Amino acid sequence: MDAAVHVLVFPWPRQGHINPMLQFATALVDVGVQVTFLHTEHNLRRLAQAHPPGLRLLSIPDGLPDEHPRGFLAFMESMCTAGSAAYRALLLSLVCAADAPVTCVVADGTMPFAIEIPEELGIPALSFVTHSACSYLAFLCMPKLVELGETPFTADDLVSSVPGMERFLRRRDLPRGLYCTEQGDGDPLVLKFAEAVGRTSKACALIFNTAASMERPALAHVASGTSDVFAIGPLHARSSSAASPSLWREDDGCMAWLDGHEDRSVVYVSLGSLAVITHAQFTEFLSGLAATGYAFLWALRPGMVQTTSPALLREAVGAAGGKGRVVEWAPQRDVLRHRAVGCFLTHAGWNSTLECAVEGMPMVCWPFFVDQQTNSRFVGAVWRTGLDMKDVCQRGVVERTVREAMASDEIRAAAQAMAQQLRLDVAETGSSSSELERLVRFIRELSV
Ligand code: UDX
Repeated sequence: MDAAVHVLVFPWPRQGHINPMLQFATALVDVGVQVTFLHTEHNLRRLAQAHPPGLRLLSIPDGLPDEHPRGFLAFMESMCTAGSAAYRALLLSLVCAADAPVTCVVADGTMPFAIEIPEELGIPALSFVTHSACSYLAFLCMPKLVELGETPFTADDLVSSVPGMERFLRRRDLPRGLYCTEQGDGDPLVLKFAEAVGRTSKACALIFNTAASMERPALAHVASGTSDVFAIGPLHARSSSAASPSLWREDDGCMAWLDGHEDRSVVYVSLGSLAVITHAQFTEFLSGLAATGYAFLWALRPGMVQTTSPALLREAVGAAGGKGRVVEWAPQRDVLRHRAVGCFLTHAGWNSTLECAVEGMPMVCWPFFVDQQTNSRFVGAVWRTGLDMKDVCQRGVVERTVREAMASDEIRAAAQAMAQQLRLDVAETGSSSSELERLVRFIRELSV
């Protein structure tokens, strides 16, 4: 263990952010760096599985009572006030510790305060981006997009103010908030994210959980306006950094159910850890899936479908042809690796996109919000590893796109070629591994 270097890793306290930052922390531990991983007290109580060995875990209050629903804006508000005050106090004590003081912070760029506070205290801080580089670039360009009126709404017009994407990025593919309106330019969620991206792009370095082979042009554009950029992903594909404790209990029973199916005969469906859909949207997905005739495994988190109890959802799936299986939370990486799964109907969250890409699995994307609109455009129009349903939620479209993704040799070939390249990227001499080594050297130099 390198006693002179002690990194505090602090993710935005949501599943899709904890996972990649925990994989990053584990990769640091693997090369002998001392790491403290910071959760909120609420999450630390919920985390079902043990963390990887060698990590010190600490927690701060997020300022909300346990039963609070923690919707984005209320949660952000509380983290920026109560959370940030607790973080400042903790950081001060960690920096002044007589034994192995913290020498460097890697914090999630979703929380500008998590980078600005250490900088105020004279501790180097790096920003970790859990989104794709392409969506990060779209967020960086948001002020200009708003100024020129190229704001997110449901139009097919091409956007000219995101460099490198002028030929294929439409307004429909721009980051979107929860409340898509015809104007769409004042969405508080998107503006909040854009502001955070603008502020954290000033950190002394940006770390992306992506591979240069996937996003070289976007990374180059981001790098041209910032201090240093490291593309070290997909982190979960590094064999020694596969940790991801879940905030929900994983239902492993679905693996035996998958064992009973033919190769590539099952559609896996998950919309990630944050999306909440209406009952009408649930019904469109269910009808479309049932019409394909394929068996499907659907991860339906409690509370994911507005106003509908889990029992009613299971009943509806059971009544729709008898080929569906519901779990509240799936062991997703194992599911995507299973020979019976033929495609993934996903919201195109960046972790799900990377997990799919590493397995060479065709995707059908129904992006929900924030970065997912941009990710899904890349899947459908740039990488061609899947199909992008975009903002359309109709049973006929679900049926058609799932059928096509299950049957298309072109899509499967593109997905498998990408998987092969990503395996090379994370191999010992690959570009992501070299970038990780460069990053560890950078952190060591900052820490002296
Ligand atoms: C959002 C953003 O869209 C994403 O880009 C950002 O980086 C994090 O927040 P989220 O809804 O959390 O996304 O989705 P995603 O990024 O795909 O992360 C979900 C994680 O939960 C994945 O690692 C996935 O494997 C895991 N998961 C999901 C399970 O393990 N089981 C499930 O049933 C569903």
